[in-house]
Amino acid sequence: MDEVAKYNMERWQALAQANAIFTRPYLALDKDSAQSYLDPQRRLGDLAGKDVLCLAAGGGQQSIAFALLGANVTVVDISEAQIQRDAQAASHYKLSLKLVQGDMRDLSRFGEDSYNIVWHPYSLNFVPDARKVFREVARVLRVKGIYHFMCANPFFIGLGRKDWNGEGYALKLPYVDGEGITYEDESWIYRGERPDKPIKECREYRHTLSTLINGLVEQGFLILNVSEQSLGTPNAEAEPGTSEHFTSIAPPWLIFWAAHRPDILGGGSRL
Ligand SMILES: C[S@@+](CC[C@H](N)C(=O)[O-])C[C@H]1O[C@@H](n2cnc3c(N)ncnc32)[C@H](O)[C@@H]1O
Repeated sequence: MDEVAKYNMERWQALAQANAIFTRPYLALDKDSAQSYLDPQRRLGDLAGKDVLCLAAGGGQQSIAFALLGANVTVVDISEAQIQRDAQAASHYKLSLKLVQGDMRDLSRFGEDSYNIVWHPYSLNFVPDARKVFREVARVLRVKGIYHFMCANPFFIGLGRKDWNGEGYALKLPYVDGEGITYEDESWIYRGERPDKPIKECREYRHTLSTLINGLVEQGFLILNVSEQSLGTPNAEAEPGTSEHFTSIAPPWLIFWAAHRPDILGGGSRL
């Protein structure tokens, strides 16, 4: 295990102990709420019997929602503590999940064309090389399968509401692909329950827009939809330095929907 994986394994162990929101399993879902949570527009169609890989998705949220909708679900996560939360959710609903502790950059334990859907919540920025992950996802995803992921908006990674300087939220860091960025967690991730012990800072890596787009196309992904994602409701009239104001200026996240279509795009760059 390299230093990147070790750092996150230890950090997510501590975040789970501190009950950070990403580590709280969803124990009050039913089929309707699972559908609205995962896919309110029903882009995925009927999920019954679909093979779904929830990638770097431990915590007992997305996995169990897919299972409630009848999918065969595998979860891969670097953190044993996060995997335990999935186990807790599975036992709560008496559903079965295949749980694997592993690194999103190495899916070699899974065969080619194993999944209809790879569902990848926010975590791509925890590794420096997005292309490595895209390659692995393309290998395990069937032709016409769907890859859904959330990542940092490459222009604003590391920037937060605390960066308000009286005039704006100043961009200070070089726009370099793979560059490490370390910052303190926002307090909302604990929703009022501050951890007893200090937790290592969040360490992420910038993936530039060209890396995200070209990296997907190179692996035969057809981009179907991209959207900005914010925390709460962006409001340019809100008090500067609040989440609502910050996200009205710098939406922190992007969500990508892509279809695996090597049959149309081929593999590798055509340029
Ligand atoms: C923000 S959480 C996302 C999943 C969570 N279910 C949620 O909805 O918030 C990020 C997850 O990425 C995992 N992770 C970090 N680095 C990883 C890596 N290299 N390989 C696999 N999982 C990783 C963490 O353990 C954590 O569970």
